[in-house]
Amino acid sequence: MVDYGIFGPPGAGKGTQALAICGRLGLEHFSTGDAFRAAVRGGTELGNTVRGYLDRGQLVPDEVVLSVVMHDLGGRRSGVLFDGFPRTVVQARGLLGALAREGRALGAVVNLVVRPEIVVARIALRRSCQCGAVYHLETAPPRQSGWCDRCNEPLVQRRDDEPGVVSARLAVYAEQTAPVLDFLRGVVDVVDVDGERSVEEVTSSLFAALAGR
Ligand code: AP5
Repeated sequence: MVDYGIFGPPGAGKGTQALAICGRLGLEHFSTGDAFRAAVRGGTELGNTVRGYLDRGQLVPDEVVLSVVMHDLGGRRSGVLFDGFPRTVVQARGLLGALAREGRALGAVVNLVVRPEIVVARIALRRSCQCGAVYHLETAPPRQSGWCDRCNEPLVQRRDDEPGVVSARLAVYAEQTAPVLDFLRGVVDVVDVDGERSVEEVTSSLFAALAGR
């Protein structure tokens, strides 16, 4: 079984692109951020553990993240697109070990390259649905204002999209997550993709990068 990763700073378009490509590539989308937000909404023990980290824009501790991913992987019968994971070198090492134990492999990682000033502008006007759909008030608005096209649930602005928290998330990305790329480049194909173009152009590049790997 071959899995893939989509990498990039907050607001780079990872979730948007994952929704665009997973179905056509026969992959299951696994976003650790989505999993944590669902746990917070559900008021579970995991949700209570991770809520403060999400609200502050800090990384959830590695052992918590790895335990969630390991538990999830056991139930996957298709290739997975990891979104927002791994975010530390410890997580990357843990992932590679777990994939090997499960008879899986990381085929490639695509890295969306987007400048900080662009992601800040994207996040400021993002609206999200609990089903995972993502909108932008100017470039990708829902058909009916405030409501999800896919599931007709109300759209929300994520708590961690408040400007002060976005700054913290960008700093955490630069300090703790960007170095993971250097580690990954030594062990797996990492394909840099210009994420500042239109959604459709980026999607085409991702298909070209992942098809057949
Ligand atoms: P997570 O949910 O993973 O957030 P993130 O990585 O910060 O990424 P985002 O979801 O903000 O952005 P995105 O790249 O998916 O962009 P999107 O497609 O929405 O993590 C949240 C938190 O959970 C973390 O801060 C941490 O606390 C915790 N966490 C999660 N995983 C963890 C881990 N592994 N370890 C530790 N902690 C973890 O697009 C953004 C906007 O731009 C949208 O409005 C969209 O419509 C628009 N847009 C997208 N593409 C384009 C384009 N090409 N042109 C114009 N607009 C675009």
